[in-house]
Formats: sequence, C-alpha cells, structure tokens
Amino acid sequence: MATSEGTWAYRDAFGDEFARTYFRRFGEGVVSSIGAGTYLGDPTDAADDAYHEALVDALESGINVLDTAINYRHQRSERVVGRAIEDADVDREAVVVATKGGFVPFDGERPADPGRWVHEHYVEPGLVAAAELVAGQHCIAPEYIDDQLDRSLSNLGLDTVDCYYVHNPETQLTDRPREAVYDRLEATFTRLEERAAAGDLAQYGVATWDAFRVPADHEKYLSLSEIVSRARAAAEAAGTAATHFRAVQLPFNVAMADAFTVASQAGPEGPQSVLWFAQEAGLDVFASASLAQGRLAEGLPPAVAEQVGGETSAQRAINFARSAPGVTCALVGMGSPAHVAENVAAGTYPPLGADAFDAVFE
Ligand SMILES: NC(=O)c1ccc[n+]([C@@H]2O[C@H](COP(=O)([O-])OP(=O)(O)OC[C@H]3O[C@@H](n4cnc5c(N)ncnc54)[C@H](OP(=O)(O)O)[C@@H]3O)[C@@H](O)[C@H]2O)c1
Repeated sequence: MATSEGTWAYRDAFGDEFARTYFRRFGEGVVSSIGAGTYLGDPTDAADDAYHEALVDALESGINVLDTAINYRHQRSERVVGRAIEDADVDREAVVVATKGGFVPFDGERPADPGRWVHEHYVEPGLVAAAELVAGQHCIAPEYIDDQLDRSLSNLGLDTVDCYYVHNPETQLTDRPREAVYDRLEATFTRLEERAAAGDLAQYGVATWDAFRVPADHEKYLSLSEIVSRARAAAEAAGTAATHFRAVQLPFNVAMADAFTVASQAGPEGPQSVLWFAQEAGLDVFASASLAQGRLAEGLPPAVAEQVGGETSAQRAINFARSAPGVTCALVGMGSPAHVAENVAAGTYPPLGADAFDAVFE
C-alpha cells in the first residue's frame, strides 16, 4: 500500500527535478501531478512489453501514480501494471495504484462471441445476475464488484489497491432511474467500506466519462453531492469511522473542459462546477484523457498554447490539465516508452496560476 513515508521519500528523491507543485498532497502522502494511464493500446504481448518498459521508466523518473481498470486491454493492463511495480527500482509503498470495476472484463483477448462469453463466464456461474447487466457489459452490484476487486488484486499482485473506482456508473442510467443508481452505489459503497476496513483498498471513488461534465438535466448526469452523501451513509452502515470515498476521476483537457466550465453541481451557495464542488468537499480529482486521447499532442488552440508552459504540444496539454483548480493529478496514457520522457518533462514547467487559468476561458 502507498504510505505517507513511502510517498514522501519518493518526493524527496525526485522533487528537485521538477517545478513547484509537481508533487501534491494526497491524504497523508504525496503524489506526482502527472500519472500514467493504461487504457489504450492493442491487447497483444508486444503492447504489454511496451507498457512494461514505459511504466518502469515512468516509476523510475518521477511518476508515482498508475491508473488502470480490470477491463483495460482485457485485463492485460492490470497485469502489466503489477509486473512494472515489481520490476521497477521503486518501493511499492511509494506508488499510488488505482483501478476500476464495472465493465465485465474479457481475459487477455476479445472472444469471438462476447455476449456468449459474458453469459458463460459471469451469468451462468452466478457472478452477475442477468437483470443487473446493462448493455450486456456493465454491472455495479455489490457482490459483482466484490469479486472484481479480488480479481484486480490478483492481476496486480498487490495486497491493497490504493484507490478503487466504480467505473462509469452513469452507464447504469441507460436501464434504470437515477434514484435506483444511487441506491446501487450506496450498497456497493457499503461493501467497499468493508473492504477498506479489511485492508483490501485504501480509498475508493467513482471514475466517470459523462456524469460530471453534463448539465444537471442531462440523461447521463449524476450529482456528486448525492454520491458523497450515499458514501457517508455507506460508512455508517459498514461501521467505518469516516467514509473512504475520497476521489473522483473525470476527463479534463483543453477540448473537454466542462468539469470547470459547466456549473452542474448544487453547491451550498448555488450551482458550481464539479471541480469546485470536489475541492470544497475535500475530494481528490484525477483528470483522465489529458491529451484528448492523443489528439492534443498534435497541437493546442494558439491562445492556450501561448499561455501554458512546455516545449511540445503534449507537454502544454498536460500542463493545462494539471493547472485546473482542484485537479490533483493529470493522467496521461503512456504505452510507448518514447512518450514517457517527454511527458515527465512537462513537470519541469510550473502550472498556470489561478488567474492565468481563468484568463484562458475569457
Ligand atoms: N472513464 C474513465 O474512467 C476513463 C476514461 C478514459 C481514460 N481514463 C484513464 O485516463 C488515462 C488517460 O486517458 P487516455 O489514455 O484515454 O488518453 P490520453 O492520456 O489523453 O492520451 C493517450 C494517448 O496519447 C498518446 N501519447 C501519450 N504521450 C504522448 C506524447 N508525448 N506524444 C504523442 N502522443 C502521446 C498515447 O500513446 P502511447 O500509449 O503509444 O504512449 C495514447 O495513444 C487512461 O489511460 C486511463 O487510465 C479513464
């Protein structure tokens, strides 16, 4: 498990190589404000090898946040994250490992008949009730997530996941009313509180794609305030002293800045953006898709490019994402060793101050 001592020692080893606020508080510990993601890439041995080299390089050069999910590259990403942590010359206690459960994962490759495979491997053995499955591939029921967490721990070769996300809970809104999704989340959070008490995870959260970017009247909307209050109820039900719900993940980049610009969340003094809401609620925000899935490496709008520090477009895009108020860490998919050095070097530039960041939107 990542520890305060381990992560601070990591910061002491690498901090001098980066600009101010590169390392940021994360609970009692500290994390790099650039994290390595593992979503994209082919489900092949060659891509695994490239990821392994890239992640070991990242860990050994100043990135101590790794983000994955059980379904990424059909479980290959979790497995390669585990191998990279074992092989890198870095203490396990220095690294914050996040994973997610929700999408039913295949095993190593996409089966010829995905629907049949899910039925045979999940529905028939009773791991997923057919009625719980949305779009043939998504489930957030407590028993299912419980089992997925076990599988993630095994794939990662870890005793504890530092942050476990319920993956894209808004997918459930396709089939059930919002209130039922909150109820489901509360039941699953209760299980995650119990798993936290057992030491299997240090904290949990929700990772989203649409839920926190869309306006409140949108079909994919979820209220972070409601989710937080469901997490508090879950802690009470599980008998944990305080909720372990401490993080959210959402896309944030120049082309998808809605988490900052859309006042979708009901705050104490009226509507506010999810980034402000999260900050005031003391939640850590991990920004996904910092490069808009690679597109921003080809160029940023000139008005943004001239404001943000960095030598390359990728560096400027990363620095834009980690400059947003309330963002603890900008996640960047890095499956190619060649990209790691460039992305890590983004951290040698200071992020934009709050006024300069606001000015980008004026
Ligand atoms: N809903 C969710 O929970 C959710 C959704 C999306 C993403 N995420 C997380 O957030 C992470 C980041 O998002 P993402 O991977 O989707 O998108 P991204 O970080 O915006 O872009 C990753 C893509 O950019 C390429 N790239 C990286 N560095 C580059 C550079 N310096 N120059 C040119 N290209 C570069 C990568 O190629 P290589 O791989 O070849 O290096 C990859 O194709 C994910 O990996 C995942 O962990 C979560």
